[in-house]
Amino acid sequence: MGMKRQQQRLSLAVAVLGVIPLLALFRADAPDDKGQEKQRNVSYAKDVVPIIQKFCITCHTAEEEHPSELYVDSYESLMKGGRHGKGVVPGNAGESLMYQKMLPNPPFGRMMPPSKRLRPSEGQVETIRLWIDQGAEEN
Ligand code: HEC
Repeated sequence: MGMKRQQQRLSLAVAVLGVIPLLALFRADAPDDKGQEKQRNVSYAKDVVPIIQKFCITCHTAEEEHPSELYVDSYESLMKGGRHGKGVVPGNAGESLMYQKMLPNPPFGRMMPPSKRLRPSEGQVETIRLWIDQGAEEN
């Protein structure tokens, strides 16, 4: 009887102790209080592609010729750029057409996407900036 209790206590203790390192892991992942957004690692596949698919791919797809000659269906073609050259300068969003065109008053033409009805949020534009500034990897 007493033995069984002890065993139960022991397994409870093991379970609780097992959770602590897990919690520490989650803490390590959480953004710190100073709001250092830069620490967030942006993934091409998980963060960037969904934004491209929602806001850009309808026009910039290899399936149809586009006057800009920019096709964003694949990492390779996105990196290749369009009529005005490379749209992504790894490590430098400010110099990257892809990012410049998502802000008001781009260097030429219209803000992307052209329709006001379907605009990415500031957070999504920021995700693109972070991805480029972090090296624009196919991660
Ligand atoms: C409704 C169609 C449409 C959508 C959606 C769209 N674009 Fe465009 N895009 C255009 C057209 C038309 C041009 C050429 C005229 C211009 O530059 O304004 C262009 C040009 C560009 C260029 C310039 C390429 C070059 O080398 O000349 C970039 C960069 C670009 N778009 C990025 C994007 C991004 C990023 C998105 C998604 C956030 C997007 N576009 C969504 C129609 C679209």
